[in-house]
Amino acid sequence: MRKPLIAGNWKLNKKISETKELVSELSKLIQESKLDAKALPEIIVCPPFTSIAAAAELSNGTDIKVGAQDMSQFDSGAYTGEVNIEMLQELGVDSVLIGHSERRVIFREDDLVINAKVKQALKSNMNFILCCGEELDTREAGQTDSWVEHQIEKALDGNSVNSADQFTIAYEPIWAIGTGKTCDATEANRVIKVIRAKLAALTSQELADQVRILYGGSVKPNTIEEQMSQSDIDGALVGGASLKAQDFFGIIQGCSHATIHNV
Ligand code: PGA
Repeated sequence: MRKPLIAGNWKLNKKISETKELVSELSKLIQESKLDAKALPEIIVCPPFTSIAAAAELSNGTDIKVGAQDMSQFDSGAYTGEVNIEMLQELGVDSVLIGHSERRVIFREDDLVINAKVKQALKSNMNFILCCGEELDTREAGQTDSWVEHQIEKALDGNSVNSADQFTIAYEPIWAIGTGKTCDATEANRVIKVIRAKLAALTSQELADQVRILYGGSVKPNTIEEQMSQSDIDGALVGGASLKAQDFFGIIQGCSHATIHNV
């Protein structure tokens, strides 16, 4: 069985003081709720780089792990503005997001850059969450499936993944991110199955069956249970609702309830 994962992507939000507040409040809510430990999802928060150390310090010894929103595809050297994996590992970072649509669209990260980041993460034993997803016009043109298949193929091309522990995939339709327009849960599940089938073709059925695939795009406390009741949705990548401890906790709680219900 795949262990559910709830990851919060804080984007360009939360300075150190706010990070301390949010992580403390969240860990308190998790602790006090006494959720069944077996049903608790893996929980990751991804603060901006400058807040990672504070988040790592405060989450030490709790159920919260700390991730990063991005990283450099380079080892070190003359790359102004970049942060490498070793720097993140030194801070206790557990995993990184790669290929978020905001990196792809706003910062023009293309398939080659994303492929190089995947290579770098694999080389350095850093878990990664590889994001994919289509724009509205791609969906309206009926090209969603081939679009996400292409993104996964390009990201993994020449990179040998051989264990489901190395990575997670997040399906995030761009039109659902930050818009409040959640993708219908059955449709998200259908696309996730397409991604899993592609992964099986690129690697093996066994690996594809074990890799977690998340849904992302306007996930809220009141959407998570339906999402988690789907056969192939293994958790959520959460933006807006990860910025408030109550909301993010509500998603964790909903995910736990669905896990108890599904077994
Ligand atoms: P959202 O963002 O939950 O605010 O839609 C999701 C994401 O960008 O990962």
